[in-house]
Amino acid sequence: MKKLGMIIAVIIVVLLLVGCSTATQEPAADTSGDTVVAEDTPEEAAAPEMAEGEKTFADLTVGYAQIGAESEWRTANTASIKEEADKLGVTLKFSDAQQKQENQIAAMRSYIAEGVDVIGFSPVVETGWETVMQEAKDAGIPVIMVDRRADVPRELYATYLGSDFVEEGKKAGDEMNNLLPDGGKIVELVGTVGSAPANDRYSGFRETLNDNIEIIDSQSGDFTRAKGKEVMEAFLKNYGDEITGLYAHNDDMAIGAIQAIEEYGLNPGTDIKIVSIDAVRGAFEAMIDGKLNVTVECNPLLGPQFYDLALRAVNGEELPEWVPSEESVYYPDNAAELLPERQY
Ligand code: AHR
Repeated sequence: MKKLGMIIAVIIVVLLLVGCSTATQEPAADTSGDTVVAEDTPEEAAAPEMAEGEKTFADLTVGYAQIGAESEWRTANTASIKEEADKLGVTLKFSDAQQKQENQIAAMRSYIAEGVDVIGFSPVVETGWETVMQEAKDAGIPVIMVDRRADVPRELYATYLGSDFVEEGKKAGDEMNNLLPDGGKIVELVGTVGSAPANDRYSGFRETLNDNIEIIDSQSGDFTRAKGKEVMEAFLKNYGDEITGLYAHNDDMAIGAIQAIEEYGLNPGTDIKIVSIDAVRGAFEAMIDGKLNVTVECNPLLGPQFYDLALRAVNGEELPEWVPSEESVYYPDNAAELLPERQY
């Protein structure tokens, strides 16, 4: 009995000693013999934990295959990707495909050959990417789709960072309903044929548009100002003042169309109600002038989120399938007040 009591006492003492050594953080010693205090400063405590051997932004080489420079939106998107790389010290290899899929694929192949750490790209159209994305996967290079999505199996990309284009189309439909409560006849300027934003903005819009609004024509303006103007001129030639509304898949096409409507002798924003998407500065200026009725936001400032995801992918983190960007809707009422704050 006495022996059992002794054993219990020894166990209690051992447990107490172990408890004390884990509850207090002992200073760690490095190999130089100097004492290193292991407590974090507030800044360090806020920084993400870096495990040994993990890469930092300064270690990253990123290849980015951009679509082109077709719109104000794209210019802002490119600036965000380039400026953020400079800020973080990321080495960026950047290419502009001039809206051609074959150029984007060639750029991606050269990034694979150069052995970059990550590839980012905005697929100009949804289909035709499997082979090159499989090549990147075989080379062990994570691919991040930015802004636009490609129609490929989940295992071929690390994540997709971008907007909900269907939702943007639905919002545009709601706005057209508000502008034409008694119904009307509208025309549609579609984005680049086969691209995710054109496909989704097309279908989303039709999900919410009221039955008393008829879409009398729908043609592609390729997301550019020049083509938007050209196609609107043809719409006006064919339907004249029958047209009571215009839905443009981006602001640049709407701005081109506004010019065509004025040249035709009608008042954009009044005779023809206009809803478009992007919320670039040019759209705010058009709203201030009373020529555009609504713009639905599509956020191009994706640089910071892109590099954050790129680093996480390179360090082996499993990323979500989709990281959506936050967006809003803007009207003429407070366009003048908001314009100075707009970053794009
Ligand atoms: O993919 C986003 C779209 O591409 C923008 O709405 C358009 O302006 C751009 O060119």
